[in-house]
Amino acid sequence: MEVNSKQTIRSLYQNKIESTPLVWLTCYDYSFATVIEKTEIDMILVGDSGGMVALGYSDTVPVTMNEMIQLASAVRRGAPNKFIVGDMPKGSYESSNETAIENAMRFCKESGCDAIKLEGGVAMADRVKAVTDSGIPVIGHLGLTPQSASALGGYRVIGRSQDESDKLLKDIEVLENSGVFAILLEAVPPLIAKSIASNAKSLIFGIGAGPELDGQLLILHDMLGLYPNFRPKFAKCFVPQVLADFTAELSGIEDLTTHGRNHRTDGLHEISRRAIDLFVNEVRSGLFPNENFSYRG
Ligand code: KIV
Repeated sequence: MEVNSKQTIRSLYQNKIESTPLVWLTCYDYSFATVIEKTEIDMILVGDSGGMVALGYSDTVPVTMNEMIQLASAVRRGAPNKFIVGDMPKGSYESSNETAIENAMRFCKESGCDAIKLEGGVAMADRVKAVTDSGIPVIGHLGLTPQSASALGGYRVIGRSQDESDKLLKDIEVLENSGVFAILLEAVPPLIAKSIASNAKSLIFGIGAGPELDGQLLILHDMLGLYPNFRPKFAKCFVPQVLADFTAELSGIEDLTTHGRNHRTDGLHEISRRAIDLFVNEVRSGLFPNENFSYRG
């Protein structure tokens, strides 16, 4: 994909047909969105993880629809040419089809999202159908679903037992029949995720679900090493690999102050861009995620 040629659902499917892995990254503000706009990232997720990394909540549960719309609007202003997915926060879609449609519409109309993501399988099938029937593309989210981590017994790998893997397969089937164009698998054993992806009609993305999927998602603050509180096993920080070249190039510049004012490539914007480019390259070339960033099984 070329920088600044916006993906569509049709072009995303083309990647699956051509076996070119898609690269998906979260974002929650204008400045980082301007960085991502310059890269070959295929899709942005304005995740409710923004409640933690941008707003400072201890988990994703308290985030509101208004907060998500504010974050997504800023991202859209910084990345006008990226396919943006808005993450429906807890409480914005579960209670009725009408509530789900109303909030999904707000995401698209008020912040310019191209699609929405919501958590849950069979129990959310009616909501998925209602939102897709209203003309808004939907991505499902299965495996570890942080909004219901408490009901799942905490943050853990999902799908190791026969019951859990049977449930995953049932959820996939029902979500696809309800109209999702893609499904995100979070913290699912790689072998199960791989077999799901090879049989699925929809695009199967993973975060902590191994390498052999249609695409990979990471949280921006994990891959830049910005979030101080926690980093999951599957999250690789790409900054160390780009720093040596960056500092070597800067050391060759005589007047760094003037260079910085004129080009603004002397700081975090440039380091982030390089780290994101590396993430894109490693996903596309199959280097990420390797076993150091995957769960066993
Ligand atoms: O909010 C988010 O960023 C997400 C990921 C954790 C998958 O949903």
